[in-house]
Amino acid sequence: MRLYSRITGTGSYLPPRRLSNADLVSELAAQGVETSDEWIVERTGIKARHFAAPDVCSSDLGLEAAQRALAAAGLSAQDIDLIIVATSTPDMVFPSTACILQNKLGANGGAAFDVQAVCSGFVYALTVADALIKTGTATKALVVGAEVFSRILDFRDRTTCVLFGDGAGAVVLEASETPGILASDLHADGKHVGILCVPGQVSGGQVIGDPLLKMDGQAVFKLAVGVLEQAARATLTKAGKTEADIDWLIPHQANIRIMQATARKLKMSMDKVIVTVDQHGNTSAASIPLALDSAVRSGKIKPRQLLMLEGVGGGFTWGAVLLQM
Ligand code: UT7
Repeated sequence: MRLYSRITGTGSYLPPRRLSNADLVSELAAQGVETSDEWIVERTGIKARHFAAPDVCSSDLGLEAAQRALAAAGLSAQDIDLIIVATSTPDMVFPSTACILQNKLGANGGAAFDVQAVCSGFVYALTVADALIKTGTATKALVVGAEVFSRILDFRDRTTCVLFGDGAGAVVLEASETPGILASDLHADGKHVGILCVPGQVSGGQVIGDPLLKMDGQAVFKLAVGVLEQAARATLTKAGKTEADIDWLIPHQANIRIMQATARKLKMSMDKVIVTVDQHGNTSAASIPLALDSAVRSGKIKPRQLLMLEGVGGGFTWGAVLLQM
């Protein structure tokens, strides 16, 4: 019998401090940075974002999301033998946020490591966990996307600081004889490093270079729409499925216009696209599991439905995972 990995629980968490566009616009205005609710909504679809308190790290947000996913799966932390955290805002330079999360969960002993693929991190991490389960290396995995992007935003740069937020999402992935993950497609093109990056580095006890996020939004936008279509089609081909088989498209939640363009290219109605970007902005690696959990808990996503998860972001990285719930 063929071995699959299957999602058996989802969870997510947004830190309590919520800033509507109006809240952020007035905070920025006090610092002489001019933007507006109209611009943000029209260009991105974002209406609010959440920012973590200064002493809260990615592992803290990940812990809340992971505990919810474990409860949904009916498992305890001790059942988990693999933790992968997708993050670009780790708690420390090292060790990994996954090791820190493992200890906070009390799930000590299994494998734990981070995946750094920026906004594609969750589809990368899910694909790695799937592979480790299929080879028998792991049997019950926690795959977490957790970010505190507020820490790396330049609040003098209106072209980026209105876009991002903090949050975490998690899934429990278990070995199963019932189909779960059907196919994945991962890519990167390192020649585009400069269009979305945090160029600073820690060296000799100092930060060398700028430790704040830089993005050429238009370049990212154009690349994103093209590669999201390609990754979706490649994944469908690998699984022997077509666009018409997809029940729900769950793209990286960065910009509603990218999601609309992707849906158009795949000839899918927006009714089949899960959209939560309005509620939390771009939470990088956390955005897909946040959207997934919200749609599972609201009852939109039903057992055995076919989902296409799609990530795209810094690197430049992109990828898709097709799975049956
Ligand atoms: O997570 C990884 C993936 N990241 C993404 O997917 C982001 C992809 N890019 C985007 O989502 C969009 O390119 C942005 C939302 C970042 C920008 O939208 P755009 O429609 O490409 O705007 P633009 O950069 O062409 O800027 C249009 C105008 C400019 O003014 P001028 O030059 O036309 O006078 C900007 O200065 O909008 C201005 N602008 C703003 N105005 C008010 C830029 N940011 C703001 C702002 N408020 N916050």
